[in-house]
Amino acid sequence: MTKIEKIVLSYSGGLDTSIILKWLQETYGCEVVTFTADLGQGEELEPARAKAEMSGVKDIRIVDLREEFVSDFVFPMLRANALYEGQYLLGSSIARPLIAKHLVGIAREVGAHAIAHGATGKGNDQVRFELAVNALDPSIKIIAPWRQWNIRSRMQLLEYAEKHHIPVPSDKRGEAPFSIDANLLHTSTEGKILENPAEVAPDHVYQRTVDPVDAPDTPEIITIGFERGDPVSVNGKSMTPAALLTELNGLGGRHGIGRLDLVENRFIGMKSRGIYETPGGTILLTAHRGIESITLDRAAAHLKDEIMPRYAELIYNGFWFAPEREMLQALIDQSQTFVSGEVTLRLYKGSASVISRTSPLSLYSADLVTFEESAIAYDHHDAEGFIRLNGLRLRSWAARNGR
Ligand code: ARG
Repeated sequence: MTKIEKIVLSYSGGLDTSIILKWLQETYGCEVVTFTADLGQGEELEPARAKAEMSGVKDIRIVDLREEFVSDFVFPMLRANALYEGQYLLGSSIARPLIAKHLVGIAREVGAHAIAHGATGKGNDQVRFELAVNALDPSIKIIAPWRQWNIRSRMQLLEYAEKHHIPVPSDKRGEAPFSIDANLLHTSTEGKILENPAEVAPDHVYQRTVDPVDAPDTPEIITIGFERGDPVSVNGKSMTPAALLTELNGLGGRHGIGRLDLVENRFIGMKSRGIYETPGGTILLTAHRGIESITLDRAAAHLKDEIMPRYAELIYNGFWFAPEREMLQALIDQSQTFVSGEVTLRLYKGSASVISRTSPLSLYSADLVTFEESAIAYDHHDAEGFIRLNGLRLRSWAARNGR
């Protein structure tokens, strides 16, 4: 085994990664560089710097990745209307390749040959981090302390902290807290009482959305502008990707939009139950489908819908940087060439509903579809022949069956 000289650690500043930091320093006796990403998780990040400093870290990286996260990861995924198992908007899944990309970038810059992460040995996130690192730089070794050390319980973890003078906040002393992962797209909560799918999630689990029952009694009408498949404005005001998603998170949260209580199938093989809150993302998915409804050709739209589950599964399973995801992305991106215009939605007690859509590139023809006399060349006799030919095989089938 070659000696590891330097490790880049994905570091939140929380208790778990602080322990990991100490463990790495002890186990490998080498320099650890910490990387803390601002993905819009809504937490102060400066405490992470102070904590890393206290642990003797010399190279501390705290980077605001919010714009990159939304423009290069969330929006491309939204172009596909991606949902895993029909419901999950992939808020954690889509953040991992971005973090991995920056870990690799820093590792190369500082000459580190290893990257460490704090994902546990039972989840999807370890897979996503490591597949992404494999795809970006196969020479980089991965250290996953949760799979390597012999800390096996929360008690042992706290003991380790105590022994190494790592401060344990009082709320972390008792039983294990919920496992929470938050970013600009969502908040995901797992663990504790939620591990029993028969138990109703207590209300305090929800962090960024109100209960729809308590949402305002008056609906709110908003308009989202799209350009080539990406949202670019809210109520006529142009915004950067991260600002736009932040704005919609506020609106959606206030109206109780985007709550999901889900049992999903992890890549690693087990089922897990989680609570997701994706207010802005839920509004955007509805709005995007709204603008696509008038700007996409039928066959193009249906092809997108066919490949969507496959594309979503690739992201869920951690194959963002795999060639097949990039191929599907090329197809999806091309489909968005004419997906521009405006969608108006009504936000009301947990729902976001499209109430109108317009586009200079619309394929919708009122003249063609109208019940009134139409000027456009549409011959009703064509429909007669169309149905007669499509019915030909059905008539044969029914006649043979003696119906
Ligand atoms: N189960 C979700 C996924 O695999 C979320 C994982 C991270 N969330 C958490 N609360 N630790 O995408």
